[in-house]
Amino acid sequence: MRDSYLSTTKDVYKEAALNPEKGLCCTTTPIWQLPDLTIPGKMLEMNYGCGSTVNPRDLVNNPSILYVGVGGGMEVLEFAYFSRREGGVIGIDPVTEMINACKENLVEAESSNSWFKSEFVDLREGDALSLPIEDETIDVAAQNCLFNIFHDEELETAIKEMYRVLKPRGRLVLSDPVCEQLMPENLKNDEQLRALCLSGAIPLNEYLKRLTSIGFGTIEVRAKRPYRLLDPKHYDTNELIFIESVEICAIKDPMPEDGACVFTGKTAIYYGENELFDDNKGHILLQNQPLAICDKTAGDLASLVRDDIFISESTFFYDGGGCC
Ligand SMILES: C[S@@+](CC[C@H](N)C(=O)[O-])C[C@H]1O[C@@H](n2cnc3c(N)ncnc32)[C@H](O)[C@@H]1O
Repeated sequence: MRDSYLSTTKDVYKEAALNPEKGLCCTTTPIWQLPDLTIPGKMLEMNYGCGSTVNPRDLVNNPSILYVGVGGGMEVLEFAYFSRREGGVIGIDPVTEMINACKENLVEAESSNSWFKSEFVDLREGDALSLPIEDETIDVAAQNCLFNIFHDEELETAIKEMYRVLKPRGRLVLSDPVCEQLMPENLKNDEQLRALCLSGAIPLNEYLKRLTSIGFGTIEVRAKRPYRLLDPKHYDTNELIFIESVEICAIKDPMPEDGACVFTGKTAIYYGENELFDDNKGHILLQNQPLAICDKTAGDLASLVRDDIFISESTFFYDGGGCC
């Protein structure tokens, strides 16, 4: 089975490289608007991602960047916008036609972006399941709308590969569909739907557990948006299945003794009589000031059963700050 769905996936993306299909994957995520960045029309048509993995916060100090599953190259170009040096971004894809389309689009991008040279991107044929990259050489590794296609075993291999090539403290930034409902087996095993990023989605918590079990000590859930519906009129399902897409940053921090710090957008606010509340574990809550906290800290604070600490629900929109 393994080879069969993986090769169906490659066939789907060979076709998507030769005949760009607008609306394959993609969500309402806005396209980056940055000074002097012009995305060629063909790249926009080939935007097969389901969110964004490019965030300036990850791209300080001239990081080495790896992008797995290049598509038409839009995000590769966006990453190159920040690195601007030869080979600053390595792009990997196993589909020759996709590599060629990406290469052509990058050449096209040179004419509309005076700051850009194709040599900024080192495109290589290769596979997410066996990355042609040395251990611990990458600062930022990205994948957008690829890992959801993989069944359990390959998903584990793909995440382990990203972990292997990242330097300590390096970041895996990803965007992928997730689904809180149980995906029916017939859809899960439909190779075409899987390849189209429609039926491989797993629940968010399961995805997060996979990342932490491989060793990522800090996780940020940065965004969650509606993605697709599988409805009984168009798909072989009895119920409506709602799929969302998430943006996650998994940091190769050492694993804390009491488990990973997973930020899902929870905030604590102390509203007692004192100036502050100190939990003596590194969290100081100033009176009536919000503090971003990880889910572990939220659980610890809730277990104190105090009537002067408010803990918000997860917003799934975490953009830094707080302490852990
Ligand atoms: C849904 S598209 C996403 C493309 C791009 N990330 C984007 O956001 O537009 C999936 C990409 O992964 C590539 N791909 C398919 N199988 C792969 C594998 N086993 N390893 C790495 N990339 C793969 C496809 O050729 C395609 O470029």
